[in-house]
Amino acid sequence: MRTAITRLLGIEHPIVQGGMQWVGRAELVSAVANAGALGVLTALTQPTPEALHDEIRRTRSMTDRPFAVNLTFLPTLKPVPYEAYRDVIIDSGIKIVETAGNNPAAHMPAFKAAGIKVIHKCTTPRHAVKAEQIGADAVSIDGFECAGHVGESDLPGLILIPATVARLRIPVIASGGFGDARGLVAALALGAEGINMGTRFMCTQESPVHENIKRAIVENSEADTCLILRSLRNSSRVARSELAQSVLDMERAGAGIDQIGPRIAGAKGRRVYEEGDTEAGIWTVGMVQGLIDDIPTCAALIDRIMADAERLVRDRLCGLMG
Ligand SMILES: Cc1cc2nc3c(=O)[nH]c(=O)nc-3n(C[C@H](O)[C@H](O)[C@H](O)COP(=O)(O)O)c2cc1C
Repeated sequence: MRTAITRLLGIEHPIVQGGMQWVGRAELVSAVANAGALGVLTALTQPTPEALHDEIRRTRSMTDRPFAVNLTFLPTLKPVPYEAYRDVIIDSGIKIVETAGNNPAAHMPAFKAAGIKVIHKCTTPRHAVKAEQIGADAVSIDGFECAGHVGESDLPGLILIPATVARLRIPVIASGGFGDARGLVAALALGAEGINMGTRFMCTQESPVHENIKRAIVENSEADTCLILRSLRNSSRVARSELAQSVLDMERAGAGIDQIGPRIAGAKGRRVYEEGDTEAGIWTVGMVQGLIDDIPTCAALIDRIMADAERLVRDRLCGLMG
């Protein structure tokens, strides 16, 4: 299957593994790349820009295929040296970057001067248009279904994807709620050139998270997520848990970031993935977990999606046409 995204990024299949804090490490990224899709390292998972440099080197030792680095600009409790992370990405010879969160305009000239293709991930057509204007090469449009930062507009993919495609000239990658061939074929029908998946890739053999978390994703239903931090205009879709419920209760009682901050600290979320205790911290997952019922290798997952997509188009869709 060839699309504007496979051509732009030099990959075999129109599938991207979105940046994932604590999850987007060399093991997962190289497995996705070796299977012919785009793996994305998450810059801020590394404690320092130097550590990112080493992680890029480690990934290169595990694959000779293209992979990208995600740089997420979001409010954080501690200030982040974004320029230093950016410079490591550029100096390491990375050719594809996924930006997300706030407007990446300040970093665009440096990326463009280095010949880097930038995919900006956002949650509204308005922000997608802005990304195109400032020089993004593609946009990932993340619907309300998605894991993590859903934005404040609550636009589900069925509306968001075609509305975004209609307004852009650059290719659009559909994101949020994708996990199988049905999603890929639907995304293509809506005008996207590929799909971005987070939750589905977190639940694979090579994903560096604890088995308990993978099993929780398999067992959980589509209803087992909730939206926290809406009161701070920083809405985030996370796993439903007692801890998440306590954050919602605090928000309802009018608590601010000073009080909520310690409960949602990233270091605690990291413990969830490393130790497998679903109540050790807040952890990110999407509604698509309701469609996930196995823990395949990345290669098996991607091969299955592509083979099923072909069958779906040839047998079901073409069959409908008589
Ligand atoms: C565990 C986890 C961590 C994530 N961390 C980030 C992040 O640091 N930066 C980012 O841009 N997106 C992050 N995301 C969002 C994904 O890149 C992707 O946009 C999202 O998962 C798509 O929705 P899906 O989970 O339904 O596929 C994260 C997602 C998950 C599941």
